[in-house]
Amino acid sequence: MAQKIILDCDPGHDDALALLLAHAHPAVELLAVTTVAGNQTLDKTTLNARRVMSVAGIKEVPVAAGAARPLMRDQLTAPEVHGQSGLEGWPFDEPEVGLDPRHAVDLIAETVAACDEVTLVPVGPLTNIALALHRHPGVMAKVKDIVLMGGSSGLGNTTPAAEFNIHADPEAAHIVFSSGLPVTMVPLDLTHQAMVTPQILEQVRAVGNRVADMAAALLGFYSQAIDDADGLSGAALHDPCAVARVIHPEIVECKRVNVVVETARSWSYGATVCDLQGISGREPNALIAQDLDAGAFWDLMLDALTAYS
Ligand code: RIB
Ligand code: CA
Repeated sequence: MAQKIILDCDPGHDDALALLLAHAHPAVELLAVTTVAGNQTLDKTTLNARRVMSVAGIKEVPVAAGAARPLMRDQLTAPEVHGQSGLEGWPFDEPEVGLDPRHAVDLIAETVAACDEVTLVPVGPLTNIALALHRHPGVMAKVKDIVLMGGSSGLGNTTPAAEFNIHADPEAAHIVFSSGLPVTMVPLDLTHQAMVTPQILEQVRAVGNRVADMAAALLGFYSQAIDDADGLSGAALHDPCAVARVIHPEIVECKRVNVVVETARSWSYGATVCDLQGISGREPNALIAQDLDAGAFWDLMLDALTAYS
């Protein structure tokens, strides 16, 4: 039985690959795509989602725009990684895929209300998910799992302590982690095991269809941008790791721990404090992904790209 998912994203190069994986793999039924401000402003992340879906021929999945800014803090974007458009590297035409008129939060709630066993896969800041939890608490209690890319049990990538998706909206992340719903966190510790190497790029380039050509071009830009940006460590393909956890949980090994989000405006604002040793006395509230079968992950990603005609 295919896992029903909603992908909440901020395309973003790795978001784009996560979308392509989620649509192509038969183990996942992509019910809806929702967008949030993050890597770039909402207008850009939304246009980018529609652009990728248009190239990939994903016409039957509704896409709706969500929060244009974080709940409390000032807005963060990441043009140094994703460029001014948020998805530099491919000459996109005007998208054929339209925009659903509903707000992302309402599309999420209506989709969850209509289907059983829906897994949310947020791969950007958690603003939409937090708003959905506050606006539709009864419906959101039905959510099967929240498998999110974000956080770190160690170093951050946006500040020394915080990872981008959490740091971009720490208050939203706190609402999600303290919601009582099942949460699976796919942090930098895991996603840095999915590095875009020159060999991987060559394999993507060799697939030989238009969607894979787009993916290769996007990954080429993404890898170079990260190489050029000071202090960023290698081009990890973060967001598809969360989708891979839904598709094949066995290739993303997890451990159940307590995770809290730092919301004090301190040097560690937006840090995810992961009690891996179980010494805090706080109840475990999340699964945290720790070990990736990288070979199986890349096979999954390449098989998905090959599935596009
Ligand atoms: O820290 C990596 C995360 O931040 C990824 O989701 C990337 O797309 C950016 O949103
Ligand atoms: Ca993202």
